[in-house]
Amino acid sequence: MTAQLIDGNALSRTLRADVAARAAALKALGVTPGLAVVLVGENPASQVYVRNKVKACEDNGLHSVLEKYPADLSEAELLARVDALNNDPAIHGILVQLPLPAHIDAQKVIEAISPEKDVDGFHVASAGALMTGAPGFWPCTPYGCMKMLESIGYDLRGKHAVVIGRSNIVGKPMALMLLAKNATVTICHSATADLGAMTRQADVVVAAVGKRNVLTADMVKPGAVVIDVGMNRNDAGKLCGDVDFDGVREVAGWITPVPGGVGPMTITMLLVNTLEAAERTAH
Ligand code: GUN
Repeated sequence: MTAQLIDGNALSRTLRADVAARAAALKALGVTPGLAVVLVGENPASQVYVRNKVKACEDNGLHSVLEKYPADLSEAELLARVDALNNDPAIHGILVQLPLPAHIDAQKVIEAISPEKDVDGFHVASAGALMTGAPGFWPCTPYGCMKMLESIGYDLRGKHAVVIGRSNIVGKPMALMLLAKNATVTICHSATADLGAMTRQADVVVAAVGKRNVLTADMVKPGAVVIDVGMNRNDAGKLCGDVDFDGVREVAGWITPVPGGVGPMTITMLLVNTLEAAERTAH
């Protein structure tokens, strides 16, 4: 049986239409949701990402500003910009694109963002809120994965979810979100002794490593849901994920494609978080 696709583009269209409607309603109350995107340096991938984020704002009725700085911007100067944005009433969300140049302490910059404007969900206050179940912003990529599971009506209660990857941006928050929905969660990583032995038990696998073919067909339980967070290039230069898509789709029950899966959902959830930040100030 060939797996059904979870279409991140289609789901994004639906969710973004809701964002646009809520943004319009907020605007009628005199509040235009605003996102500031800060880019330091000239990382080519980051330039594409920030352009896509700003365009998504424009397309859905959110105000956005893109602040671009040279790679030699000092940490103090960046902290001063974050402080200014914290105090700017037209800005409800602040995103500092990562990675930052090596001379800047990224965690220090993230902690300087006001938690009320931390739409990336990377601040320790946001991480703590997720861990304890308090209200706060959820990191956009794992949040998007949860929306994809919700879109197929998947009930996680009692299911075994295996997360491959333990980053602060995806793996760890993903595990906490799955746990909050009553899944039994296993986190695997580069030191896991037998990854296949873990994933073969999984009803849901989330692959978030950043390496091709981390998950192959022989590692997947028939009918499992496979979510591919990876964003890699194959030998031909084509975009691909962490999952051997052609092989795994013949075993899995559901699978997300790359491109057109998790990628658009990350930006969609950034819009959702920014809108909610603005709604919190308006209500
Ligand atoms: N770099 C790669 N992904 C992300 C993200 O989601 N947010 C930020 N700020 N930087 C990133």
